[in-house]
Amino acid sequence: MPQAPRPLNAPAAERNRQPILEVLQRVLPTRGVALEIASGTGQHAAHFAAGLPGWTWQPSEYEAANLASIAAWTAELANVLPVIQLDVLAAIWPLPAAAQTLDAIFCANMLHISPWACCAALMQGAARHLAPQGHLLTYGPYRVPGLATAPSNETFDVDLRARNPAWGLRDLGDVAAEAQRAGLQLIEQISMPANNLLLVFARS
Ligand SMILES: C[S@@+](CC[C@H](N)C(=O)[O-])C[C@H]1O[C@@H](n2cnc3c(N)ncnc32)[C@H](O)[C@@H]1O
Repeated sequence: MPQAPRPLNAPAAERNRQPILEVLQRVLPTRGVALEIASGTGQHAAHFAAGLPGWTWQPSEYEAANLASIAAWTAELANVLPVIQLDVLAAIWPLPAAAQTLDAIFCANMLHISPWACCAALMQGAARHLAPQGHLLTYGPYRVPGLATAPSNETFDVDLRARNPAWGLRDLGDVAAEAQRAGLQLIEQISMPANNLLLVFARS
């Protein structure tokens, strides 16, 4: 008999999902349509869709191997659309009709684990798809100009670059500059547990 796929479990997502949800509940309006880029295991999509019942949540993922896990985590949630495979670098994002115009785009922990070109692609895609009052929210570790980087993030950066020279912690100023080039502005920068930041961007 075929076995149902077992959802993947990332301990970090288990730890950070509630603090992130609390920011989303504060920053976002009560209803809208959100695209999540790089949904990973699907734990975030399930937690955020359950905690934001007025929102329709569109999960997406680059790695085909993660799609079944995301579908399994979100199977019981009526406000989650079927997961799609999405590479931010694609010129056209394959969004279904229900998620062509977006009130929010959420992307956690992708910018430092993908080539730098993904940052510009994320900003340009957000500029193409966000509604006029929409927001792009990114979460992860960043280097902040003028501030010492936490030792744990320095170690993480060395580890990332050893795994792939195109990866590494991004400078907050560089990320904000890419956003600005695409017509987005960094409007809020929220400190999160474990030396992470949640960044909120809006149209300039
Ligand atoms: C560390 S995981 C983060 C997963 C999840 N967002 C989380 O915080 O648990 C990095 C994610 O970046 C995604 N990724 C890497 N390159 C990508 C690309 N070109 N387009 C979209 N996602 C990409 C991976 O597939 C993976 O889901």
